[in-house]
Amino acid sequence: MNKWENFNIIRENAIESKNTFYYYSDINFAKKFDKNFSKNFMSLNGDWYFTYLNNPNEVSVYEYGKIISKKTIRVPSLWQYEGYGKLQYTDEGYPFPIVYPYVPTDNPTGIYQKEVFFSDDYIGKKIVIRFDGVESYYELYVNGEYIGLAKGSRLKSEFNITNYVNIGEKNLLTVRVLQFSDATYFEDQDMWWASGIFRDVSIYTVEEKSIERYEVFSSYDSILKLNLFTEFNGKLDVKIILEDIEGNEILNKKEILDNGKGTYIYNLEDTIEWNPERPYLYNLYIINEQENEIISQKVGFRTIEIIDGIMYLNKKYFMMHGVNRHDNHHIYGRAVDEERIEKDVLLMKQNNINSVRTAHYPNSEHFYDLCDKYGLLVVSESDLETHGYVNTKNFDELAQDKKLEHIYIDRIERHIKEKMNHPSIIMWSLGNESGFGDNFLAMAKKSKELDPSRLVHYEEDRFAEGVDVISTMYSRVQMMNYMGENPFPKPRIICEYAHSMGNGPGGLMEYQNVFYKHKSIQGHFIWEWSDHGILDKKRNVIMYGGDYGDVPNNLNFCLDGLIFSDQSISPGLLQYKQVICPIKIRKNSNLEYETENLFWFRDTENIKIKYQIVEDGNIICEKELEKIIINSQEKRIIRISKIEYDNKDIYVNFIVEDLENNLELGKYQFNIYTRKYVELPKIKNNMKIKETYDLLKIIGQDYKIEFSKMNGKLIKYEKHNKNYLVKYGNINLFKPVIDNHKYENMDFWIPYYFELIQEHFREIKFEELDDRIIVNVKSIIAPPVYDFGYVANYKYEIFSDGIIKVTLKGEKYGEYKGVLPKIGFEIGVNKEFQNVEYYGMGPFENYVDSKELSIIGIYKSTIDNMFLNYSYPQDNGNHQNTKWIKLTNDNEEGLAIFSEEDLNFSVWNYTKENIQNAKHTDELIRSDYITLNLDMKLIGLGSNSWGSEILESYKIYFENFEYSFMIKSFVKGEEELCYYSKH
Ligand code: GAL
Ligand code: MG
Repeated sequence: MNKWENFNIIRENAIESKNTFYYYSDINFAKKFDKNFSKNFMSLNGDWYFTYLNNPNEVSVYEYGKIISKKTIRVPSLWQYEGYGKLQYTDEGYPFPIVYPYVPTDNPTGIYQKEVFFSDDYIGKKIVIRFDGVESYYELYVNGEYIGLAKGSRLKSEFNITNYVNIGEKNLLTVRVLQFSDATYFEDQDMWWASGIFRDVSIYTVEEKSIERYEVFSSYDSILKLNLFTEFNGKLDVKIILEDIEGNEILNKKEILDNGKGTYIYNLEDTIEWNPERPYLYNLYIINEQENEIISQKVGFRTIEIIDGIMYLNKKYFMMHGVNRHDNHHIYGRAVDEERIEKDVLLMKQNNINSVRTAHYPNSEHFYDLCDKYGLLVVSESDLETHGYVNTKNFDELAQDKKLEHIYIDRIERHIKEKMNHPSIIMWSLGNESGFGDNFLAMAKKSKELDPSRLVHYEEDRFAEGVDVISTMYSRVQMMNYMGENPFPKPRIICEYAHSMGNGPGGLMEYQNVFYKHKSIQGHFIWEWSDHGILDKKRNVIMYGGDYGDVPNNLNFCLDGLIFSDQSISPGLLQYKQVICPIKIRKNSNLEYETENLFWFRDTENIKIKYQIVEDGNIICEKELEKIIINSQEKRIIRISKIEYDNKDIYVNFIVEDLENNLELGKYQFNIYTRKYVELPKIKNNMKIKETYDLLKIIGQDYKIEFSKMNGKLIKYEKHNKNYLVKYGNINLFKPVIDNHKYENMDFWIPYYFELIQEHFREIKFEELDDRIIVNVKSIIAPPVYDFGYVANYKYEIFSDGIIKVTLKGEKYGEYKGVLPKIGFEIGVNKEFQNVEYYGMGPFENYVDSKELSIIGIYKSTIDNMFLNYSYPQDNGNHQNTKWIKLTNDNEEGLAIFSEEDLNFSVWNYTKENIQNAKHTDELIRSDYITLNLDMKLIGLGSNSWGSEILESYKIYFENFEYSFMIKSFVKGEEELCYYSKH
């Protein structure tokens, strides 16, 4: 039997798992916390010789004593990202038949080889090689001799190679890596199938009397407990030093380590706590005097506990506002570099996120260091998912199989031993989507044995038999509310919700309100942090499942993050930021507001709140509120000074700043007054009408408007001989489908042919009044095949100053029970007018159920900048509450749209048909005109690509409608008319 298909073998000859640390020979090096200053440390990252094989046995293991091929590959990396083998993306399906523990015979294999020179510094020392992560099975050879093997892709393994290396010579390391093994059955996370040495490889040395492993338990009550382990059986003198941030010694103790183990407990009194808002870290130095060896370790004092079904961190109530995070890079996949990781962490901190679930495996070690440093609570998940078993009779099969218990135990044990010294971890998660059975109970027990200081989570332990925290995923708002009203005896979290695929997620606010309402719901984690698309450098396009000829695949289901594949921010993240803003402001009256402090560990000492008075979109004054100290979870009333205004739109904006972290936390806007629109003075109708066989022409002072008598369309709007409207407008009920409307599309819009809605002209009539010409056009708007639709009326009122007031009316006939994508109007504008200025909700795209990220104001941008280039093209760029829009060229000529009613608008350089049909961004082709959408209503976003449906109040049903707006062409210097109405 192949070892890679033998589930009884997990590792051979590996050293017992331990935390990651380094030995320094000098205290000043130790203080740098930088492995490059550590003793005999050798990074083996960089180029390795690489031979790619279709079958593991294509090259005999007996040839591993020499270099097989001189081709090289970068380490760390996943070879499928480097041009070898095949990329494949599936959500849960295994890419091979389920015949546990067997995997394909042709099992893609990489032979990695590297020559390593060992200098005299290595004489007499134990030489250890460390692999931080290799997927999924590997064997190590030194100078052709077999050393050992390991499984467990996202876990570390180390091997003692002392007896196999020749000092003063070049030694050949060979690592045979197989893509698939029996372990693959346990590593079926929703991500790209890829393999290789994808995390760091390094070498270091251990002395005879070195401390080989240690455990730190540091609690809120200032108790530091240390367990030190060594293989040396005699007595060892060690010195323990603990320093605070300023370098003051809090502890300096000499200890004796005897018989391989030492346990020391220090009651330090008054240590400063570690929490995600103020992640205070101490420096611990463990000095081994015999070997002149120093270990440095960051220590945070905190305690997580459950009292009466509620979690407390450092005796304080708290809530986790979280995300699920994979290690991901759009060029290198899971082989993430430190810079990338740091940016993830900083982005989370900048967006009010205080927690992360490492989905669905322990993330890269560096990520945990940064969570300790910057303050993120971590639910650290074990590398375990058997989701593919949903396609068998028994999803629980592996979890129930006693013969496999050792695999489950191995995965939790190595995980905990590796990561347990990170203060940011408050919970161990046993895995994801792997059914349930005794093997999980055994895992939970093991976890408590190894680390009683932390809580245990596993979502599929439905009744929390073995875990401390009950959990569900994707439970809808109402269900969460129900669960909050009927609390379980253990604290609850929702480990995944709000599926952030494409445009969305919508409905975060409604969720958050329920979370805030119920004390027992203490954590919510958005699915997910980042898209997993891969950059195709030639096309400059993000690729997803199926793009590599991979079958089966789950298409763009891997593009479901709050940040895009390249780490740029999506509006969904900004919406989340505002929804979880820790300082809340609510309006009591125009001058009186309530502030609540929902930081869990801070008062508002370093919080600054300023407010702005906004008049018709212009900020006319900005003031800082007098500082008030509000304790965690307390409220206070704040007042602003009296506002003078006449007939204008008045808003007050509050901006909350965190001076401690130099960060804007959030913004609030409240309406104080809405202007009454006044009628424009009448100008006498001085326009001429010319009728031809097929045209109705209206000629004004410097403009010309034409309607077709064949289809009733407004086909020309010329000013000074320039045509402003180049593609006639029509009432529009369809928009490019977004991922989150997958089910609406499948259930209604495809079967009822919304994409093919037709318009049939019935009549055009005109009438001349004193101050205007009215053109009335009737048509029907309906899908083919069925007998429902709208009788539509377009009313164009044309005034002597060139303003066209458009009133759109739809009266329904027949029956349609489904929802509508939108009720709107689209028109093609001269593509010269690329500059956009608007008074509406911005600057970020916003929708009925995702609007807290934006506020009403005047914004300037360009059409290209307003287009949200989703990797899978879809509807985007909507702005609500819009009162006016100006599209101009660089000569300040252009088109103005204004309305007394709140409009939704978006502008694209692409047609909706193009956006709808494009599957990648390079399939978007700039059209000959600008598509301007002036919509009455758009359906909410929801997150039902996997998460919650659109909430009822954000749906649009088949109903009569009427709305209006005005259009005017203008040239530089013309009078502003935006705040007037014409009746
Ligand atoms: C969850 C799963 C995630 C991901 C998500 C859909 O069920 O835990 O890994 O697949 O669905 O994107
Ligand atoms: Mg899954």
